[in-house]
Amino acid sequence: MPKVVVVGSINMDLVAQASRFPEPGETLSGERFVTCPGGKGANQAVAASRLGAQVVMVGAVGDDAFGRELVDGLDREGVVTRHVKTVEGTATGVALITVAGGENSIIVIPGANHALTPADVEAAEADIASADVVLTQLEVPLATVRTVAILAEKHGVPLILNPAPAAQLPAELLARVTLLTPNEHELALALNQPGTPFPDLLAQLPGKVVMTRGEHGAYHVDTQGAVYHQPGFKVDVVDTTGAGDTYNAALAAHLQLGLKPAMRAAAAAAALSVTRFGAQGGMPTADELAAFLAEQTA
Ligand code: RIB
Repeated sequence: MPKVVVVGSINMDLVAQASRFPEPGETLSGERFVTCPGGKGANQAVAASRLGAQVVMVGAVGDDAFGRELVDGLDREGVVTRHVKTVEGTATGVALITVAGGENSIIVIPGANHALTPADVEAAEADIASADVVLTQLEVPLATVRTVAILAEKHGVPLILNPAPAAQLPAELLARVTLLTPNEHELALALNQPGTPFPDLLAQLPGKVVMTRGEHGAYHVDTQGAVYHQPGFKVDVVDTTGAGDTYNAALAAHLQLGLKPAMRAAAAAAALSVTRFGAQGGMPTADELAAFLAEQTA
């Protein structure tokens, strides 16, 4: 059972489902509304826990009903929440999500996530030092992510950075990352090279990038320049929210098996995650993932 420390965001997702996305200025009648737990960090923590990892979450919520509900939910999922702090006088992060035709659009209001400081990460140093993998994203301040990278490097623990939402990243941070898991747009922005073809982008960080391309799967270029492609698995798509988070969690939870098996498990877990509604709704358990993989020929 690998130990995974996840440093990142915790949101309440307010999700409206409609037959299509509204045009600017248009009012559209939707089909359903739900509030469900989300946030890239919390999603990754829950997905890794369902896959059998021992997960410690480092994050922040506000002193409100959403915050209490979200921490209770993480506890129920078996995620260790001793490093999730409650920020007084601040709202819990929320995400306004529209789902239409299996696609989504998201507006995030960070709230307490932006109060997660480098000192909060330092307070979790013992857990980072004893982790098998550390996993983080960009919905908390960059200075906090930088501290995660410094501590992971200090203790020789592999660090997976999922650079979402997209942002330009300092070379000093990229140098400390073991694996960067962007999509094509996020990789171009991380390197500040918009418009550059993805093979050229991948070649700039040999051995470090697992680039996801949705249903087309994911690509990795090793330090010798050899390209590895893990195709995606075909499923009926209900809601893609949280698919990237499930991918990252499964990659982290299986990394000790080697990168190629981890990429296969991640592709399968992400495929399963989109077959149900909500960011965490379709995240598979270890048994569900094993059963799905056993059915596949690829
Ligand atoms: O990756 C999906 C997540 O992004 C949602 O759960 C939402 O909270 C946003 O953080």
